[in-house]
Amino acid sequence: MDGRQIRSLSDRGTTRLYKELETLRFNFSRLLGDCDTVPRKSDLPVIYAITPTYARPVQKAELTRLSHTFRLVPALHWIIVEDASKPSALVGKLVNKSGIPHTILTAPTPKEWKLREKDPNWKKPRGVLQRNRALQWLRENLKPKDKAVIYFADDDNVYSLELFDEMRWTKGVSVWPVGLVGGLLVERPILNPKTGRVTGWNAAWRPERPFPIDMAGFAISAPLLLSRPNAKFSLTSDRGFQESHLLQALTTRDKLEPRADRCTKVYVWHTRTESPKLNAELARRKAKKNMNDEIEV
Ligand code: UGA
Ligand code: MN
Repeated sequence: MDGRQIRSLSDRGTTRLYKELETLRFNFSRLLGDCDTVPRKSDLPVIYAITPTYARPVQKAELTRLSHTFRLVPALHWIIVEDASKPSALVGKLVNKSGIPHTILTAPTPKEWKLREKDPNWKKPRGVLQRNRALQWLRENLKPKDKAVIYFADDDNVYSLELFDEMRWTKGVSVWPVGLVGGLLVERPILNPKTGRVTGWNAAWRPERPFPIDMAGFAISAPLLLSRPNAKFSLTSDRGFQESHLLQALTTRDKLEPRADRCTKVYVWHTRTESPKLNAELARRKAKKNMNDEIEV
């Protein structure tokens, strides 16, 4: 079956099958490389995954895990935004080696907005200026008619591959459950069983938020983003209101597109990595002995 035949299936109203076949076709074309019968370029909308990241002992481990997930996702463009004034060798090498189409940007968080070591993690927002830098890049590089989807993929969460199939065909803003967040096993949209539209939220932490949803719980179509030039994040949003701040500039609750089997499946988990205890390492540094400087960790 070639691309034209697959597309005509769609004309007959079998859109879901069409989407699945299109994903399969792309995966095959990647496996086969250049080949007469399977066109290399895919009709799949590109997922632009935006990842803020910062230097710390676990950074390479987090980015390795994430890159190994993204390698399995067709038509994904990774926008990594380093919280630094210039790009680092560690991130550059890792991302180049991954073979994933990508863009590396930088946006340093000013010192007064950085969490200090002993601060509780809710004290300052994270990833704000990095995500805004990526939104600026998208506005400069995408055209209004480009078929593409934008997703905020923090470097420490766990993503199941189904998630990317779910978000790929987003028309405006799509939403789904997120595991292990807000003091619950799962935070999720509640749907009207008859209409299938979002009528509320199952959230425990500040449920009065306009969109009580984690950053990992939604995706935005590129045409929608480009039609709202002012939609971005703010350092001064109230704690936990970053997502609501952006979403209020883009959509309303009744327009949300529920995914993941009517929001009954968890395909992303808000995992957080424990900071390793490095007392012995620090002692060696102080003594300037066996500092492991020659090996990248
Ligand atoms: C929660 C949400 O899941 C985040 O999306 C949101 O940014 C954050 O709260 C917030 O309210 O600011 P949490 O797990 O506490 O997440 O945040 P982190 O995972 O520590 O940080 C979010 C992203 O920003 C990560 O990709 C991280 O690498 C990056 N980050 C963090 C920086 O770029 N610089 C920093 O100084 C800290
Ligand atoms: Mn996190």
